[in-house]
Amino acid sequence: MKEPRDNALFDIVHREVERQNTTLQLIASENFVSRHVLEATGSVLTNKYSEGYPGKRYYGGNAVIDEVEELARTRCKELFGAEHANVQAHSGSTANMAVYFALFEPGDKLMGMRLDQGGHLTHGSPVNFSGRFFQFVSYGVTESDERLDYDQIADLAAKERPKAIIAGATAYPRLWDPEALRRICDDVGALFIFDAAHVAGLIVGGVHPNPVPYADVVTFTTHKTLRGPRGAAIVCKQEYAQAIDKMVMPGIQGGPLDHVIAAKAVAFFEAAQPSFKDYAAQVVRNAQALAEALAHEGFRLVSGGTDNHLMLVDLRPFDADLTGKQARLVLERAGITLNENTVPNDPRPPFKASGVRIGTAAETTAGMAEPEMHEVAALIGRALRGRDDDGELDSVRDEVATLCSKFTPYPDL
Ligand SMILES: Cc1ncc(COP(=O)(O)O)c(C=O)c1O
Repeated sequence: MKEPRDNALFDIVHREVERQNTTLQLIASENFVSRHVLEATGSVLTNKYSEGYPGKRYYGGNAVIDEVEELARTRCKELFGAEHANVQAHSGSTANMAVYFALFEPGDKLMGMRLDQGGHLTHGSPVNFSGRFFQFVSYGVTESDERLDYDQIADLAAKERPKAIIAGATAYPRLWDPEALRRICDDVGALFIFDAAHVAGLIVGGVHPNPVPYADVVTFTTHKTLRGPRGAAIVCKQEYAQAIDKMVMPGIQGGPLDHVIAAKAVAFFEAAQPSFKDYAAQVVRNAQALAEALAHEGFRLVSGGTDNHLMLVDLRPFDADLTGKQARLVLERAGITLNENTVPNDPRPPFKASGVRIGTAAETTAGMAEPEMHEVAALIGRALRGRDDDGELDSVRDEVATLCSKFTPYPDL
């Protein structure tokens, strides 16, 4: 087999390596995976078809693949202290879809966090399968402190009597209390589903409460704070295992991505090392240092700060005319990558938004610590203050490049 090398494509990929090596990656749902995770993702396991589960496949030649998936499942269960694990979900969205379709009927009432206050599309958006197939009612944060109020959630659950409460978010900077949510679910006879997409790595790193002992089902993506390949997993109590496995395959998906499952196994292995605890703690310390430094620059932190890997920055006190989208575009010019985000009770629509979301998981992997977070906050402030000044933006971009040259995630790629 001697195919010509597709230089056009690999040149583009190389430019992405350059971008990741030389600019600041502050998107809260991203990370830099290890070379070993990359190696597994790029392995010959991509060649195999293996519909089914270990020991029960619809195709031959799966003895090795069975070992891979068994290793991934076992590590996943051990890492989270779970009774059962399904590691085949292609993404966080299909993981959530599998859980809802396995445990509920179309039209059932479910309760999730408001999308404009941090919840995910799969927690009831009308443009998503979740909002189209299920009747979602939403809880949010309080106006006074922009945090979840478990008494309010309990009152809403008592009034609405949902079949399940979905916890977890895509943009909530505070810890969740799984014990309180379990009590609320028990009081109204609801199942408790925790979507740990964002905080999975913080949970295994010991800096966020583990929902697994309390929740009936926990879903999570493997590519955010957990620092694995793009994909997801589901852990649950044994009583839901069969229904969920059947809904992942054949209910929703066909053949699993065995190379990605192998990379998930590697990520679980890495997350079980003692050094991962240090990493998770540093992610949170960095987020807190960055939040404090941004407050000094004149920004308002939603809820006053952060307990986890991300923060929501309200731009209005800094510059009333600056939208989240404009800020994202200006910062991108200056070599700083993040995304716009609504803030609670945002008067602007989501595609403009009044805030930005910032996460520290990736740059902590690259080795940055508190001193660099102060520098990053100053660079963000300078770029946004000088947003109409090309010279200032070029100067910030140069300083970003200098900073990143000391913290390069892939120096030998
Ligand atoms: C809370 C939450 N759930 C689910 C998902 C969906 O994951 P994916 O993009 O892999 O479908 C995300 C992704 O951002 C998320 O933040």
